[in-house]
Amino acid sequence: MSYSKGLEGVVATETKISFIDGEKGVLELIGIPIGELASNSSFEESVFFLWNGRLPKKAELADFESAIRARYDMPAYISQLVMSMPKDAQPMHVLRTAVSAMGLIDPKPNATDLPSVRDKALTLLAVTPTILGAFHRYRKGLPIIAPDKTLPIAANVLYMISGTKPTPTMAKALDVCLVLHTDHGLNNSTFSARVVISTLSDIYSAITAAIGSLRGPLHGGANEGVMVMLNEIASPEAAEQYTLDKLAKKDKIMGFGHRVYKSYDPRATHLKVLAKQLAQDTGNMALYDKSTAIEKTMATAVAAKGIYPNVDFYSATTYHCIGLPLDLFTPMFVVGRIGGWSAHILEQLADNRLFRPDVDYKGPHDVRYTPIDKR
Ligand code: ACO
Repeated sequence: MSYSKGLEGVVATETKISFIDGEKGVLELIGIPIGELASNSSFEESVFFLWNGRLPKKAELADFESAIRARYDMPAYISQLVMSMPKDAQPMHVLRTAVSAMGLIDPKPNATDLPSVRDKALTLLAVTPTILGAFHRYRKGLPIIAPDKTLPIAANVLYMISGTKPTPTMAKALDVCLVLHTDHGLNNSTFSARVVISTLSDIYSAITAAIGSLRGPLHGGANEGVMVMLNEIASPEAAEQYTLDKLAKKDKIMGFGHRVYKSYDPRATHLKVLAKQLAQDTGNMALYDKSTAIEKTMATAVAAKGIYPNVDFYSATTYHCIGLPLDLFTPMFVVGRIGGWSAHILEQLADNRLFRPDVDYKGPHDVRYTPIDKR
């Protein structure tokens, strides 16, 4: 049996959801290049696409959007739970706990037939932004804003966080970000979701595991790490030296590098354009200029290793310009990625095989048990 640390290069399953060519910098969702989808589609339409394997007709999309909006409200138990959480809890921990708790109030939490799982996925897709908005305002001592069922997910979540209806530009920018984050092959959190559901466990357990995985700074948590780094850099002129100092200490530069991409992440290409436009519109060009200075330094220092900006690098500036607080960056990734996790859970259940890899044992053999008073 062959062994690959971190399962690098191992094909663990088949999928029809997303395709990545890491050498050429290609990401396609069911065949459509991600840039084309982000330029033309909406988040809701992209999720329908992933869950059904085809783009919706007009009436189907309208029905799907209505079904999501009808589920925006938090169940009373979840609302009470969220309002009883420590105000200094981190929003990723809040989301993980609240999604898990959604299983407590589902009369049939363990159902794994596809229509039931799809129905539960729809509820999680709709309610997660509401949980996020409510917790944010509760911790700040602000009145909770009820979801506006006339708004799509992106505009609505911004409204529930800030209390003000976003401008069409801001709502559109977040919608594009959500599309760009919807799915991405067998990344760590998606793999986690598939591993859990492959035991025929339940969708709440699978998505809870995925949120836990995404939080890590080597995965989705990197977008917050990027912002922390940009805040540490005094000015665009200081970015080069800052980057070189970090590299000299063998520190990772957050938002760079990828297990699969050895060229420019196509999501970063799109986000870079968006970040520049939003930074210009909101007077945040210093952030964008620091980012491009880091990118330029990295291109000279480490591009030979195949290290380029990933999705998290320019999403930090984008989210900041949209007005999101720093610790809501990774939770916003959850809002988008629930679409992809759910698609993978459905795909896994449709043709399940329990994930159970082998391990290469390196410990001793034939050891005799030493009684406790003889140790
Ligand atoms: N900054 C500096 N050097 C880097 C970086 C980075 N961000 N990423 C990789 N390298 C270097 C490593 O030091 C290593 O160099 P060496 O061969 O001289 O020792 C080489 O590139 C290979 O790096 P690995 O960490 O082995 O690559 P791996 O495929 O395991 O890592 C990962 C991918 C975890 C994403 C890594 O690039 C990283 O830690 N990046 C920073 C965190 C980040 O941005 N994560 C978000 C990824 S996208 C997402 O999950 C949504």
